[in-house]
Amino acid sequence: MNPDFSDQWDKLKHIASNHDIRDIQGLFAIDTNRNQNLSFEAHDIFIDFSKNWMTADLFSQLITLANEAQLKNKIEALFAGKPINISEKKPAAHTSQRKLKATEKIVQDREKMFFIAENYFSGVYKTAFNKKVKTVVNIGIGGSYLGPKLAVQALSDLQTSNDIKVLFFPSVDDVALVSLLQNCDLTSTLFCVSSKSLGTIETISNKKTILDLLKNITDYNPSSANQSFVVATTNQDKAKELAIPSSHIMPFDHATGGRFSVWSSIGFPVLMAIGREKFLQFLAGAECMDEHFAQTDFQHNIPVLMALLSVWYRNFIDLPAYAVIPYDVRLRNLPAWLQQLMMESNGKMIDQNGRNLDISTSPWVFGDHGQLSQHAFFQTFHQGNDILPIDFIGVIDKNSENQNFLLINMLAQSAALMNGNKSNNIQNLCPGNRPSTTILLKELTPSSLGQLLAMYEHMIFVQSVIWNINCFDQPGVELGKNIAKNIVSHLKDGTLGDINLDKSTKQLLNRVLK
Ligand code: F6P
Repeated sequence: MNPDFSDQWDKLKHIASNHDIRDIQGLFAIDTNRNQNLSFEAHDIFIDFSKNWMTADLFSQLITLANEAQLKNKIEALFAGKPINISEKKPAAHTSQRKLKATEKIVQDREKMFFIAENYFSGVYKTAFNKKVKTVVNIGIGGSYLGPKLAVQALSDLQTSNDIKVLFFPSVDDVALVSLLQNCDLTSTLFCVSSKSLGTIETISNKKTILDLLKNITDYNPSSANQSFVVATTNQDKAKELAIPSSHIMPFDHATGGRFSVWSSIGFPVLMAIGREKFLQFLAGAECMDEHFAQTDFQHNIPVLMALLSVWYRNFIDLPAYAVIPYDVRLRNLPAWLQQLMMESNGKMIDQNGRNLDISTSPWVFGDHGQLSQHAFFQTFHQGNDILPIDFIGVIDKNSENQNFLLINMLAQSAALMNGNKSNNIQNLCPGNRPSTTILLKELTPSSLGQLLAMYEHMIFVQSVIWNINCFDQPGVELGKNIAKNIVSHLKDGTLGDINLDKSTKQLLNRVLK
């Protein structure tokens, strides 16, 4: 059912036309318990929605819209493994992927990944140069990079000096390769080729680049080359084409979406950084959030409320951007991960029935570490003519002076955005009544990180249900890739002159290639 057909949609449009909802200070005056009434908690996560253009009644109106979209049935279909990814005729397996008591095949895949990791940890498995692994380099991009990178960074302070260092090599920049080579000894490095499809040119090219470098090392033995590689993929046939022995292939369920895949064999770099026990805690944390999402009534369901708030801003207040600002260096990669998760999932204009949507869908997501952002782009948050919703995320596990200073700054920013100032000097005037949500994690552990990531995954799913779109495919990313492939093949066979390109691209290509 398309949302903008419903009377409820029109009712919400009418509510939005009354600007009282934008007077957050006025809303606090009306409900003196507003902060408590609009704050919720699940496991390690506390979320305060009270600094938003929102009320409990308005959340109820949005829940009515969610009920019209059959949200409860859609959540049940997700967890029941129904083929809700309708364009690819697949389920969405990320919640199954992290269940402790998962299907036999998922447990088998997970145990194979653990077996491989354990053998490299213990030194039973060595690199092609017969050395114990000291560094793991992940070769992968998009969902085969962003989730693992975020989790390794967030949890890396759990590492000790003799732990394995985990690095990432996602793009084909030569400069990135130089930097990588300065930070690892190729002979004691295990390369993890992470690619759901094994069809991503950058990943295949980087794997070849590394193999060519290994071949130039003295005492390189071709017959043991594969000891320096493992592959995480759903495409085992392609992995065999790459001559990777099956003992080094880590399969996972092809119904697990790339940007939802850190819970699968794509999480191998995380496993190598934190070990089996903590990796299982990471999965268990996400599973806790799954239970909260599946079992909690919508009035108290954190991912549902986050999604409905975002729909309110996007479709009824017409705000096109959305900022996610972690005040913790350990979460500095969360905005990049969420950009792919939300914008690749919901950046669509066609609904599940093939109908052109004339409503907005995914906002433009951006963000960075809050302390850095304050001294960079917060000016526009306070005094720009355009407003956007912001998620502030803080971790309250370290009671140090610096850590408290960091979090006090986060709270001060949200207070300044909401309260503004009454400056006589018009240049210094901050209008206030600018919305934000604050999320506090009790601590940053594998479990709480799993909860946080799963919370956002479910937020994206709920958005897609309201917009009646499929959040599990990405048809829009193929066109650009195909144009690039076409240019590369013409370049290789010297027929660039015949290529059918617009004049701007042609002139720019000529400059690039000169
Ligand atoms: O091009 C987009 C995309 O397909 C993402 O959806 C995916 O996460 C990324 O490329 C990498 O894909 P793969 O894991 O198959 O290499």
